[in-house]
Amino acid sequence: MHKNRFTRIGFILAAAGSAVGLGNIWKFPYIAGENGGGVFVLVYLATVLFIGMSIFIGEVLLGSYAHKDAVTTFETHSPSKKKYWKFSGFTFLTGVFILSFYAVVVGWIFNYVVVAATALPANVQEAESVFMSLLQKDVWTQIFYYTLAFIVIAYTISRGVKKGIEKLNNILMPTLIIILAVLLIYSVQLDGFTQALSFMFSPNIDKFKSGSIIVAVGHAFFTLSIGMVTILTYAASLDKGVNIVKASLTIVIMDTLIAIVAGLIIFSILFSAGQEPGKGAGLVFITLPAVFYEMGSIGTVLAIAFFVALAFAAVTSAVSVLEPTVMYLVERRGMKRKKATYSVSVIFYIIGIFTLLSNTTAFSSLLTFGGKNLFDWFDFISAAILMPIGGIIVAVFVGYIMDQKVAREALVPYIGENLYKVWLFIMRVVAPIAVLLVMLNEMGVISF
Ligand code: TRP
Repeated sequence: MHKNRFTRIGFILAAAGSAVGLGNIWKFPYIAGENGGGVFVLVYLATVLFIGMSIFIGEVLLGSYAHKDAVTTFETHSPSKKKYWKFSGFTFLTGVFILSFYAVVVGWIFNYVVVAATALPANVQEAESVFMSLLQKDVWTQIFYYTLAFIVIAYTISRGVKKGIEKLNNILMPTLIIILAVLLIYSVQLDGFTQALSFMFSPNIDKFKSGSIIVAVGHAFFTLSIGMVTILTYAASLDKGVNIVKASLTIVIMDTLIAIVAGLIIFSILFSAGQEPGKGAGLVFITLPAVFYEMGSIGTVLAIAFFVALAFAAVTSAVSVLEPTVMYLVERRGMKRKKATYSVSVIFYIIGIFTLLSNTTAFSSLLTFGGKNLFDWFDFISAAILMPIGGIIVAVFVGYIMDQKVAREALVPYIGENLYKVWLFIMRVVAPIAVLLVMLNEMGVISF
């Protein structure tokens, strides 16, 4: 066994840690709410299981075969005349865009653990003013928690794959699962639970919007962390001899289950309090805290558990954003891991400060252009442009460019010839077309 590589279970927890994040607990419930539940959830499930998982397997395949940083991996797999594919390694730049708004949100969550423990807002109006003043006025509070978030993230990465990433995920992921299980048990006996179930699973054709399909497909990519060489990079630190299909399936199922469980918990609590979903991004930071307050002391306990779970989910994802760039600097540029981590972190940290300031009243006009502030731009550029491009690169590279023998030999023993053909068809045809449609739609070139 290579000394600085993940164990099988370590890899599964770390990759699941990357996948399970704000996307599952914060974003999924509110976009499911906005898009009417039912149909949205079904399209999302279908996309995750077929297209998402295929690309996920593609990234794990590339990484675990080459055991190198992303740039070297593309180089290794390219036929000799097509070395320019190594530039696909640019996708680790996507990380800059993701982390610079993701880490800001991690800061809010850290702050909300404290809010939950000390002073929950008494009603929705008050909750809204608490959240808005954090975002727009309390610049130093925000910077304080953001800095804290960055220190945790950078420290973990500086300790390396085994002592940093694997150890963090070995502790945080099981704890996260236990907290969510307890919250689920609590939710099941609430009045709102059956309503939550039917909201999420009964396909309500009236609410069917064709645009919802696109949102569901886009989210399927975001939630699995695919299309930005993160999963590829983690897989590069995976020991040989692991059944990569089974590992990928386990991770995808964990990610999906956690999104569904988070949705059930949040909607049960919301419906029991007579609130409606569909109020957008403020669901977790505005509506939910007010509902927790109404529940009295049990609400405080639930609120703390909820925000701690959210913090754990988000930190394990944020950590995985830094790893591709750091691994590249270590492997290709011969930098020491600590130095690589701190150089990358300082740059990401400073960019993130501008993102943070773009939400504040004092700086928003300075940092807003083309109708979006920097925070929204980074979210948009990463989710609507860079991630889909990364997804297409992986699908096309695995499906057409690299030697087909590699994929065949790696996959057929586990899934057989027929399923392998299905997988290849998804990589070659279904995934690139689906991703292209999502991208064009999000950029407003076409509209569904
Ligand atoms: N999957 C993460 C979530 O659901 C978000 C994410 C997308 C991500 N791409 C990533 C996280 C790359 C880390 C690395 O919240």
